[in-house]
Amino acid sequence: MKQDPVIAPSILSADFARLGQEVEDVLASGADLVHFDVMDNHYVPNLTFGPVVCQSLRNHGISAPIDVHLMAKPVDRLIPDFADAGATYITFHPEASNHVDRTLQLIRDHGCKSGLVLNPSTPLSCLDFVLDKLDMILLMSVNPGFAGQKFIPKTLTKLAGVRKIIDQSRLPIRLEVDGGVSPQNIAEIASAGADTFVAGSAIFGARRDEDPNRYNSVISQIRSVIGAA
Ligand code: DX5
Ligand code: ZN
Repeated sequence: MKQDPVIAPSILSADFARLGQEVEDVLASGADLVHFDVMDNHYVPNLTFGPVVCQSLRNHGISAPIDVHLMAKPVDRLIPDFADAGATYITFHPEASNHVDRTLQLIRDHGCKSGLVLNPSTPLSCLDFVLDKLDMILLMSVNPGFAGQKFIPKTLTKLAGVRKIIDQSRLPIRLEVDGGVSPQNIAEIASAGADTFVAGSAIFGARRDEDPNRYNSVISQIRSVIGAA
């Protein structure tokens, strides 16, 4: 069974010069979860931010859950730092850890919720022996590294496959989708089985600077499409 729908703006597309305010604004406009994309110019060809920025958001007063998506290799070294910095979820790509089971356990041992992220070409078999250690499965619907890419349609079949695996397991695992998600395709993504929706450019690109509720309309549009799916 699906978990309650969660909308997770990716701050990769936020205005970094005003990050605290941007995060406050998306949360005040109805977002549930802050998606925090960590890139290392090694696992992916781009470079973003680390635990210090996560801690700054907590110091700024952000109390919503923070969903740290590690696109970094190796990952184990970063986990205690992100746990201390206030991460709620920590997810990583199986290709970025030599010992996936151990890394998942490490995340939980540090009091965070754990998740695996599957690239478009990563097979579902990598979930086989670790389901009981997962709070989240994140399916990439683009190749990781950049905001603003086009949704890969094959992800819909893959989502349906993971939905089945989660339902059969009867475990309360979230099914998250990340990359190219927009109000235009979110209905089919929700019908395919996702319950947690990351959107970067679709949300932050809808900014209307003069409007204090600048993200309200896009987030409520997304929520109503999910509700109807
Ligand atoms: C891509 C990141 C995504 C990205 C999504 O590697 O993991 O979270 O920011 O951006 P959009 O929604 O613009 O595809
Ligand atoms: Zn992401």
